[in-house]
Amino acid sequence: MDDNRKKKPALLPLLCLAVLTLLSDQAAAFNPRMLFLVKPDPIVLNDHGGELLTGNLTVNLLFYGRFTPAQRAIVADFVRSLSAPPPPLRTNTGPSVASWWRTTSLYRGGGARLRLGAQFLDARMSLGRGPLSPANVTALAHAAGHHRGAVTAVLTAADVLVTPFCTSRCGVHGHARGGAHGKARYTYLWAGNPAQQCPGQCAWPFHQPLYGPQTPPLVPPNGDVGVDGMVISLAALLAGTATNPYGDGYYQGEAGAGLEAATACAGVFGSGAYPGFSGNLLTDPVTGGSYNAVGLGGRKYLLPALWDPTTSQCKTLV
Ligand SMILES: *[C@@H]1O[C@H](CO)[C@@H](O)[C@H](O)[C@H]1NC(C)=O
Ligand SMILES: *[C@@H]1O[C@H](CO)[C@@H](O)[C@H](O)[C@H]1NC(C)=O
Repeated sequence: MDDNRKKKPALLPLLCLAVLTLLSDQAAAFNPRMLFLVKPDPIVLNDHGGELLTGNLTVNLLFYGRFTPAQRAIVADFVRSLSAPPPPLRTNTGPSVASWWRTTSLYRGGGARLRLGAQFLDARMSLGRGPLSPANVTALAHAAGHHRGAVTAVLTAADVLVTPFCTSRCGVHGHARGGAHGKARYTYLWAGNPAQQCPGQCAWPFHQPLYGPQTPPLVPPNGDVGVDGMVISLAALLAGTATNPYGDGYYQGEAGAGLEAATACAGVFGSGAYPGFSGNLLTDPVTGGSYNAVGLGGRKYLLPALWDPTTSQCKTLV
């Protein structure tokens, strides 16, 4: 497999960076409750007029804690697929991951083209197993890369504690300031592997929900409840980052706690969704996995519906 992941043991200057990044920031959470509560009313996200992410955007991945190569490949292939050109041979297995991401190009400014940047492995957990605070997560993102035109995704392994994980959030995206004079704004996000700590909250619909209407769990498309669940959070957070990077883009409700591109469509993955039912999806005939988008190499993903600003509806691919 083509593999450009780099080992970077040098996450050492974290302590001073933690101080530096206390200048941060506002963050918008991907709330577990929102996963299964389909909103009955039409939602309108207001455009607050602030800067959105457009042009070429690099997504750096920081794997914190133990991830298997197979788990990292699920995530990296997803990011690589977001702005990938259509495959030379049209396959019939379903809509592309790139067509899912294209909904973000309907927002003001025309959206961003994403490419996979550096992949950092912090398997030894430079800040310990946790609990990590939001400031610690910001510091990790800062150390891994903080420049305009990049978003760094901090992904924590199943046994890493991050507060507050599970009870109020499956992940979060935010922005902070860095650079020589602390003036440059950069974006980052965090998503955790919920397999051990809260699959019922953050890996729905691949796990029985902790509350709400009970439906049988779906088979995850890559056979990994935690990582396939984490990809849902990552997808939602990337869409929120692109369309509301600095807290003054598209959202409804309270700044920092409002509904964004994906959270406005919580619980919706396919057509005909209702509370507890994620919608009509495609099924892999071999694995039985449920999916709605296909990435590079034919890899399958289940991705959340995104709010379409041209129709004010949640757009599903299937
Ligand atoms: C974005 O990247 C593409 C492909 O690498 C390149 O052709 C294009 O010029 C870049 N656009 C900007 C605005 O830098
Ligand atoms: C994590 O963040 C807290 C503040 O939220 C700070 O007190 C602590 O020193 C940080 N831990 C590390 C290892 O940097």
